[in-house]
Amino acid sequence: MSDMKTIILVGFMGTGKTTVGKRVAERCGCPFLDLDDVIEENAGMAISQIFEDYGEPKFREYEREAVRSLLDRPPLVVAPGGGAVMDERNRAVFDEAGICICLLATPEAILTRVEKESHRPLLEQGDKADRIRKLYESRRKVYESFPLKIDTSQMSIEQVADRVEELARQPSPAS
Ligand code: S3P
Repeated sequence: MSDMKTIILVGFMGTGKTTVGKRVAERCGCPFLDLDDVIEENAGMAISQIFEDYGEPKFREYEREAVRSLLDRPPLVVAPGGGAVMDERNRAVFDEAGICICLLATPEAILTRVEKESHRPLLEQGDKADRIRKLYESRRKVYESFPLKIDTSQMSIEQVADRVEELARQPSPAS
């Protein structure tokens, strides 16, 4: 893709943003950026430590700062954390920075993918299946409001990457 725009893969935890994002970046020959890595670098500590020491509001501040930094970067493929889109200021930056594609998955598929992981503080409070269902439900409207979305539940990484490339190539309605 020569006239490449920044591709922002949004979506709940475990929908495949990072795995797919790396694959799409590889295919396009452009950099991949995981915004959680930017946050960890800026804060000098792991995400789980930020939550533990300072709480979620401070994490969201770091997140907003990392999101804003997208405006100064050349075209790339980005995976923000699952909660970033809940803040309309971040959504405005995403709109300005590039094209947003939302990855969706059923809570069951998400659980299968994140079951054995323990680095996401928001899923470590109580029963994981229950946390996913409740948090997903509270965010569902926002995820589903993105015009470009892919239900990844039954798809392989390559299939999702194909679809991302296809959607990213489509002219935007405004252009
Ligand atoms: C979060 C998702 C995580 C990370 C943090 C909060 C969320 O990123 O930013 O734990 O609020 O959904 P991933 O979606 O990459 O797991």
